[in-house]
Amino acid sequence: MLVRLNRFLSMCGVTSRRKADRLIQEGRVKVNGKVVRELGTKVDPQKDVVEVDGKRVKVPKRRYIMLNKPCCYLTQLGRSQDGRKTIEELIKDIPERVFPVGRLDYNTEGLLILTNDGELANRILHPRYKLPKVYLALVKGKVTPKTLKDMERGTELEDGFAKPDGVRIVRYEGDNTLLEIVFHEGRKHIVKRFLGSFGHKVLKLKRTAIGPIKLGKLPVGKWRDLTPSELKSLFRAVDLKYKS
Ligand code: URA
Repeated sequence: MLVRLNRFLSMCGVTSRRKADRLIQEGRVKVNGKVVRELGTKVDPQKDVVEVDGKRVKVPKRRYIMLNKPCCYLTQLGRSQDGRKTIEELIKDIPERVFPVGRLDYNTEGLLILTNDGELANRILHPRYKLPKVYLALVKGKVTPKTLKDMERGTELEDGFAKPDGVRIVRYEGDNTLLEIVFHEGRKHIVKRFLGSFGHKVLKLKRTAIGPIKLGKLPVGKWRDLTPSELKSLFRAVDLKYKS
């Protein structure tokens, strides 16, 4: 797969994409022995030899991790503009530059996959592969069986129709309801907007699975590498072959 040179340099941990563009314009980057100054240049990470200031850039090891994102962390790398905490501080000890696959809201917790494998990340997010994302949502009020049926049928939201792949009542908690709801699409705030449109405000939201990958007992705020068998099933779920 070809990738843009600036993206390649950022994937390899050389620098950010913006700074990579500067390096390219300054003539400090060579591809297969030749200086390139064209910003749109694409390279094949498996075949092309890329050098910066005469030093060969090594393709980093592929890394796939899961993080149990706590509430009140932004799903972004680097520092936030407004001083809010970001997931960067939870994954400081990972030398590869891994990126979050999709986002969870600031106050949503649960499963986040991070990787430096762009192809896999794109497929996890692409609606074509219909990868189900499972959420536990604590909502205000008691969801009646009639409302549950209406939820199963789907509803019109301001940006189009939304229908979950599944929704069920896990239990009632006092005057509130714990629901399990599954969507394969990733529109912004989809779970909160969908449940809110039925008059049930989401009080707490947690993602528990993405396709075959389950959060399990990973403690809040901790990360771990995906196992070879998890990777095999994740790759299979998006029509890729996992080579260990
Ligand atoms: N849907 C939401 O409303 N929020 C999330 O964080 C994820 C899905």
